[in-house]
Amino acid sequence: MLNNRFWKKRAENYNKTSWVKDDHLLDAYLSLIPKNNIYKNILEVGIGTGVVANKVVDMIGPMIGLDKSKEMMSKIDHEGINKVVGDAHNLPFNDNHFDFIYMRNVIHYLENPTKAFAEILRCLKNGSFFLFSQVIPFSDKISEEYDELIGRDIHYPNHGEINELFSDYTIIKEVEYVLEGQSIMNWLDNTCDDKQKKQLIIDKHKNTSNMYKKMVNYREDNDDISVDIKHLFVLAEKK
Ligand SMILES: C[S@@+](CC[C@H](N)C(=O)[O-])C[C@H]1O[C@@H](n2cnc3c(N)ncnc32)[C@H](O)[C@@H]1O
Repeated sequence: MLNNRFWKKRAENYNKTSWVKDDHLLDAYLSLIPKNNIYKNILEVGIGTGVVANKVVDMIGPMIGLDKSKEMMSKIDHEGINKVVGDAHNLPFNDNHFDFIYMRNVIHYLENPTKAFAEILRCLKNGSFFLFSQVIPFSDKISEEYDELIGRDIHYPNHGEINELFSDYTIIKEVEYVLEGQSIMNWLDNTCDDKQKKQLIIDKHKNTSNMYKKMVNYREDNDDISVDIKHLFVLAEKK
């Protein structure tokens, strides 16, 4: 599992990774927030540098943001966001407290996503919503190849595995959103400062299967590689 040192280093450049602040991606995700509800208690789990939260506060009101990395949260500068250092596996909140909880791109860093999903369920009020977002492999069939390519010794849960995590929720809506033509060099420049490792990951991409390359619309141009990246959004309700 990636430790706090990883996030301490990553905090400086995190917002420069192109998907992080992509407005189309953010708008598509946040358009799933149910309208006409009053949200008094809102929580983001794994808030990071607050990119999503900055928009959420403006849309539906002040909120709590929890993250285990204080360095990531030190980049947040919005008076509507109350920062809490904590762990998604053990949320420091009462049962049935929140009207709305959301989480983007956190579960691949968790030792036990099932436990985090149970915690989120515990902290939600009955009839309230959980809005989830996650980068997923283009198809469940290439799950292993995907983990190998990212090269971080972590597992990216695929669509099928994510559906299992929602077994105690009622799924209201699922959307697969494709972010086209993402630069591998932009991602590596902002997430990896080990030159050798960078080169290894580039070589791995160049040597992927034709099936993978076709699925992700693989392109090599100049000194970069571009691929499409799939995100899964799930809106679910506490039964
Ligand atoms: C890829 S970032 C996502 C940040 C933000 N949600 C976003 O979409 O920009 C993952 C975040 O999850 C946090 N994180 C990882 N493991 C965690 C845990 N067990 N509990 C709380 N936060 C965690 C990291 O510190 C990091 O800020």
